[in-house]
Amino acid sequence: MSMDELKRQAAARALDFVQGGMRLGLGSGSTAKHFVELLGARVRDGLDVIGVPTSEATRADAIRCGIRLTTLDEIDRLDLTVDGADEIDPDLNLIKGGGGALLREKIVAAASDRMIVIADDSKWVKTLGRFPLPIEVIPFGLGATQRAIGKAFAECGISGQMALRKDPDGHVFVTDCGHWIVDAHLGCITDPPRLAQWLAPIPGVVEHGLFIGLASVAMLAGLEGIRIFERR
Ligand code: A5P
Repeated sequence: MSMDELKRQAAARALDFVQGGMRLGLGSGSTAKHFVELLGARVRDGLDVIGVPTSEATRADAIRCGIRLTTLDEIDRLDLTVDGADEIDPDLNLIKGGGGALLREKIVAAASDRMIVIADDSKWVKTLGRFPLPIEVIPFGLGATQRAIGKAFAECGISGQMALRKDPDGHVFVTDCGHWIVDAHLGCITDPPRLAQWLAPIPGVVEHGLFIGLASVAMLAGLEGIRIFERR
């Protein structure tokens, strides 16, 4: 079975948790895209839900699939967000932002009563950090921001190279909100909540890809089936 089929299986399982009338956060990335497509099929069969997309790509997918959309200006809370992740640890701390949508993803997850993370089981790790940590930054003063980020790493007893994300053409990658992304190659993040606390107040850091205490459930599809983990 291919990785993509596993992602679709996880997405299909999350669909079991969707009920008519729900306000849904729609995640970004290849796994969340499966969820949007499967949800769209249910909507075309009569399911009544409304969604808030976490990226322009997901907005386009949702419109193509016939899913009614709204914004967090029009409604205050969401019942459920379903999204992918780049890494998931046993406390359901996540690294997200591999596709660059971390800022909107975190705003949407924080406005949700429940967040289900869907992934193939290669995303399950004992310790976060093998996947480079995306940090969304303001272009102005990038050098100063990176030095402050480096100090935050040192406070947490970690270090690693930082690289400004580029698109395949070699241009600086620009997020949907007009910011840049620094990917931090840390290897091992021993205390994700502590690092999140050090990164958040840095001027110039808009958001970071550590999602702490946001995911309620993780659904991981592997060759032996789907494993479900709930946050302790
Ligand atoms: C988007 O910015 C990310 O947070 C994605 O949710 C994450 O990168 C997982 O993407 P895949 O489902 O494509 O692996």
